[in-house]
Amino acid sequence: MKQFVSALSAGALALLLFVAPGESVFASEDIATKEQKQVLNIAHRGASGYAPENTMAAFEKAVDMKADMFELDVQMSKDGELVVIHDTTVDRTTDGTGSVKNLTLEELKSLDAGSWFGETFAGETIPTLGEVLDEYRGKTGILIELKSPSLYPGIEQKVADELKARKLDKPENEKIIVQSFDHESVRKFHDILPEVPAGVLLGYNPDGISDEQLERFQKYADYVNPSKSMIDASLVERIHDFDMKTHPWTVRDRESANFLLEVGADGIITDYPDYVYSHPQN
Ligand code: G3P
Ligand code: CA
Repeated sequence: MKQFVSALSAGALALLLFVAPGESVFASEDIATKEQKQVLNIAHRGASGYAPENTMAAFEKAVDMKADMFELDVQMSKDGELVVIHDTTVDRTTDGTGSVKNLTLEELKSLDAGSWFGETFAGETIPTLGEVLDEYRGKTGILIELKSPSLYPGIEQKVADELKARKLDKPENEKIIVQSFDHESVRKFHDILPEVPAGVLLGYNPDGISDEQLERFQKYADYVNPSKSMIDASLVERIHDFDMKTHPWTVRDRESANFLLEVGADGIITDYPDYVYSHPQN
């Protein structure tokens, strides 16, 4: 997977040019660590700061902005089709009303999923997971969140089937990751497709994350992805000690992006991919 070198590359190069013979290239261990660190830039619901979330426009924008991956939320229609939408109702992000699970694919596809964000996006529709995989497989990484899977019995198998149909069940370089806040669902998915990397999502908890939890997650997950409010350097190190990686969420300001780079996150889930990058985009 395409990855990028973090913020201090240019600075370190300048240092290299001016360093005296015999001196260390890096002024401190800290700079060396940052120079070598690679971080995945993950566009949350697509580049949702710039285009309506979970639409093809947002995914296209993420690719245009050279994000390494985009994240999406998958649920199921009344007639059992996998659809890409965050809320369990269509009310906030379309011109319709009602629960996703009570609407057929045809009904969901008839809705305008773009105008709420801006008139230039009128006509965007709710994509199916298959449409997104067909369009973007091989072009970018995709982080698939099973959203509220307890509402959709069997969704883990259906997602696995969509991946297998496209030979995406043995992804190289972590191009597909499946995650959920519902850890039982993550475990089920892992049992079905153990070769696809899986992640557990965690909301803020003042008690933090215990070693016992990390030990449990390690049995079926490769990623522990907490709210950014839970993260510090020590938690990142503990997650690494358990041989897992971390992609905290959700960055909506530059300070948070810089903080997560500092503490050594492996990926950063952001509405604004340009807040994470420091290199030129063209
Ligand atoms: O991928 C992390 C993030 O998407 C989790 O929160 O509510 O945006 O799905 P949410
Ligand atoms: Ca999500």
